[in-house]
Amino acid sequence: MKAPIKKIFLSVASGCALATFAASALAQTAALPPALKPPPPGAFSNASPILFREGGAGLPPYPVVVREETPPAKAARMKWFHDARFGIFIHWGVYAVPAKGEWYMSNAKVPQATYRAFARDFTAANYDPAAWAALFEEAGAKYVVITAKHHDGFALYGSKVSDWNAVKVAAAQRDLLQPLADAVRARGIKFGLYYSQSQDWNNPGGGTGNRPAWDDEQKKGSFDDYITKIAVPQVRELLEKYHPAYLFWDTEYAMSPERARPFFDAISDYPELIANNRLGGGVLGDTATPEQRIALDALGRQFEVCMTINRSWGYNATDLEWKSAQQLIRNLSDITSRGGNYLLNVGPDAEGIIPEPEVERLKAMGRWLKTNGAAIYGTEAGPYAKPPEWGRVTQRFNANGSSTVYVHVWNWPANGKIVLPRVQVAAVSGKLLANGAAVSSAVSPTGLIVTLRGSAPDADVSVAALEFPAPLHVAEDVIHPIDASSGGTPLDPSGGNPPK
Ligand code: GLC
Repeated sequence: MKAPIKKIFLSVASGCALATFAASALAQTAALPPALKPPPPGAFSNASPILFREGGAGLPPYPVVVREETPPAKAARMKWFHDARFGIFIHWGVYAVPAKGEWYMSNAKVPQATYRAFARDFTAANYDPAAWAALFEEAGAKYVVITAKHHDGFALYGSKVSDWNAVKVAAAQRDLLQPLADAVRARGIKFGLYYSQSQDWNNPGGGTGNRPAWDDEQKKGSFDDYITKIAVPQVRELLEKYHPAYLFWDTEYAMSPERARPFFDAISDYPELIANNRLGGGVLGDTATPEQRIALDALGRQFEVCMTINRSWGYNATDLEWKSAQQLIRNLSDITSRGGNYLLNVGPDAEGIIPEPEVERLKAMGRWLKTNGAAIYGTEAGPYAKPPEWGRVTQRFNANGSSTVYVHVWNWPANGKIVLPRVQVAAVSGKLLANGAAVSSAVSPTGLIVTLRGSAPDADVSVAALEFPAPLHVAEDVIHPIDASSGGTPLDPSGGNPPK
């Protein structure tokens, strides 16, 4: 497992080698026989569920497949995503009816017939996409990713290839995606879709992930037929109908190169589309998506931390373990200081109501971003691999060659002084984003001493913006360790999924 990963990393890291690498990877893929084949025996047994589920380091030993494009073309394609920094994930579907999270059908081994009956109560009666979009804008989010189809196979739109969808079998009786796409785009927010390509617990032949089928109905049909007759056509429907800016695959169980190929071909028809790393079959993807934890294992990809506000993705009426607004704001500050995006989840109920504790926290994030957004949007990672104990740092490289360094103060010092370790350049000027108060600084042997006056203007994170004549480069390794302080679900053998 180790050797191919290293090769990928080196190849991706060295700019111009990428094109050659991509071309040879594509050539290898093109050489694959067109017939669909089962994955090689044991291909998946050597990856931990955690790494495997998130792709990345758990890639099976397949030839790596990436888009063939030059590094500048890729940077241009990824620009909006890089600058966005904050997105909203929406897990919504029939699982909102039993209200025990999106894994309920699998966890409780609910038979298909019983589960399908829940669709009769999936009303979306209070679904107000314009209000959702207004909330996401108020939160300061720049993109939205909604579950077009989760592992239960239920599609939120009128798919032509499966009736197990919101229009045909649910009380909602309408397409739930288009109005949201329209509402968010009207506010300049990008629209993205999540699609569970491998697991599908209700459509014939769909996968049941790392668990054996629990209903004889699930043993009917072949997985390869499911891929060619349902999953690939649905992905094509989604791309054609909704033109998502971002596609979030999920769980790569049993995805061989042959099975991943038609999905990769489908997305390759959309040159602007960004897709994540969870397709499987060797497809590297554009983003690395650590889940419920802040980590950087991007293999040259843009990283995006996805996280729940409580502990559940899908609506769970009994999960009241809400993270505090401060924790969420600090997570955004932390992730951005490492060059990543924060995709924060909401789980609306069966009527389409976003739980109030989620609404409150999103509004709190929006209030903070309104004042401090300059320190987040469009910024680059800060210079420190090991964050200073007082907070985090991001920076913006300005067109005129100067640089603005944003000092995110989590712990306001009693003596008003913090040190930017090893910085030996004087700042031209400095001020607090919250109130414009001047911030002075002076070079010292240990680094730049920044003097903050008065008390913290923001109890969560106060930001000082310092202007420098040129970008700050503090030579340091940029591999960050897992940060256990993110308030996410701790790593466990189930990979954060509900207990088996
Ligand atoms: C996991 C879970 C899933 C959730 C997703 C979010 O893979 O299976 O329920 O949708 O991660 O990233």
